[in-house]
Amino acid sequence: MRDPGLLLVDMLTWLAQQKAAPLRIVECGTIRHPSFEGHEDGLATYHLARWIAKQRHTPHEFYSFELTAGHLKACQAFLRDDGLDDYVTFGLGDADLLLEHFCQPIDLCYLDAGASPVENLSQYRRAEKWLRPPGMMVIDDVFDPRNADRGLVTVPYARLEGHKVACIAGRLALISFGVDDYPLPADSYWLQPGDPMLLKFRDDTRYCANCHCAEHSDVHTGRFKDAPNQFLRNMVCDNFVPKPEVRE
Ligand SMILES: C[S@@+](CC[C@H](N)C(=O)[O-])C[C@H]1O[C@@H](n2cnc3c(N)ncnc32)[C@H](O)[C@@H]1O
Repeated sequence: MRDPGLLLVDMLTWLAQQKAAPLRIVECGTIRHPSFEGHEDGLATYHLARWIAKQRHTPHEFYSFELTAGHLKACQAFLRDDGLDDYVTFGLGDADLLLEHFCQPIDLCYLDAGASPVENLSQYRRAEKWLRPPGMMVIDDVFDPRNADRGLVTVPYARLEGHKVACIAGRLALISFGVDDYPLPADSYWLQPGDPMLLKFRDDTRYCANCHCAEHSDVHTGRFKDAPNQFLRNMVCDNFVPKPEVRE
């Protein structure tokens, strides 16, 4: 499989053509293993900075948010060796908070911080309010067997919001904010209702224990008493509207 960082570069190249304007890119989770050898993470910070450096004539902006000061400093030094550190604005802190207060439009947001599905959903919800269509939300480690739970609640949540979601190269999730026509790379496809992959996310199943709503599936309908995984069981919906009491 191609490096996730290179798959992101393909997406940016396409977005830049579509928009013909400078892009604003946010990555949550900076490189933690700054080496070209034996890494599994994808070196996205490096590949994105390199892409921006090549587009010298277009003032794209790239932000990378990182919780651990040591990772951030090591990544800065790694990029500096290739003269790329000036192409990244680093933010030290919790991605959740940094996203919440970002207050600028984002064209591509890459969520690659923390393994918890609930944390991921929180980051998604904070980032989506700044997403400027046509735009992309990309999450790493959603479909690969290595560490594939990160999208467990974000994928069904995004689908309930009406976004198309693609499985990219058996690993990344691409959530479309008006980019349904993006030509997907090899080994990638848009998830369709009934796709066996969706069984993992259970978003074809109705589990609402509050209103037993027949029209909605999973996340936005409330608590999931009988749901098959703890993340869905603990979900509480912001939009929850109790079913009106039926009086005979
Ligand atoms: C998988 S690595 C990121 C890899 C990088 N994107 C790449 O392509 O090489 C995850 C990083 O997210 C950071 N992280 C974990 N939780 C975070 C949070 N809540 N906010 C910001 N960064 C976080 C970790 O310290 C770690 O450096």
